[in-house]
Amino acid sequence: MAKRITVRTIREMKNAGEKITSLTAYDASFARVIDEQEIDVILVGDSLGMVIQGHDSTVPVSVDDIIYHCKAVAPQCKRALLMADLPFMSYTNPNQAITNAARLMQEGQAHIVKLEGGEAQLDTVRHMTRHGVPVCAHIGLTPQTVHKLGGYRVQGREDDVAKQMLSDALALQDAGADAVVLECVPVDLAKQLTEELEIPTIGIGAGRDCDGQVLVLQDMIGISSLAPKFSANYLVDGRSIAEAIAAFATEVREGSFPTDQQCFF
Ligand code: KIV
Repeated sequence: MAKRITVRTIREMKNAGEKITSLTAYDASFARVIDEQEIDVILVGDSLGMVIQGHDSTVPVSVDDIIYHCKAVAPQCKRALLMADLPFMSYTNPNQAITNAARLMQEGQAHIVKLEGGEAQLDTVRHMTRHGVPVCAHIGLTPQTVHKLGGYRVQGREDDVAKQMLSDALALQDAGADAVVLECVPVDLAKQLTEELEIPTIGIGAGRDCDGQVLVLQDMIGISSLAPKFSANYLVDGRSIAEAIAAFATEVREGSFPTDQQCFF
């Protein structure tokens, strides 16, 4: 059996210049195929609110929803690191966050939890990591705050926003975060963040220079109602789903995904 990917493995991959691959999964069948194709990180993302539940945002997703899907996915993760999202309003203070993170890890069998936000989350990240909860931060476009942001748009094109993102990322790392997802961030900023951080960056719409790439499964097999610019449909040329996932992994590892077409400048 392949060796289990851990937070330590992904840090070593960054140091060795090996790209980290990640896909979302919400059920046992897809999780099994994704794990068999040796995708490093499987994310039970709150994107399930959109691609599974059919909402127009991730806001309605609950902790119970994430746990339900983690329970289906976890037994299939023989190799992959299982990451689970803390959904909207489930981490408004450190105690609430750690209580819900414990549920994701104990009931859902997640190995690491992900939460959105920068400096506002520092106390929470510090509290969780001090108590042994691995944390992945998520900055740039943070979909849980879509109503505050006024839509899904690229973040960090203005100098002051880029500066804040850089300081947020470094502070999250100091608070103990093990990795950070960069969503919809211009390529140059994502490159700078990746170079300045010791923890791995996992990009989605953040260019080729990130330490890894994550996509929503339904986007990369071409069945989402609205395909985002940063995704690509790998279920082409008569490929099976397993072959599509393998093609994604190969392109990420070779550095040919994303192309300029999928990036923001
Ligand atoms: O919920 C999700 O799928 C995510 C990815 C977009 C990174 O957070």
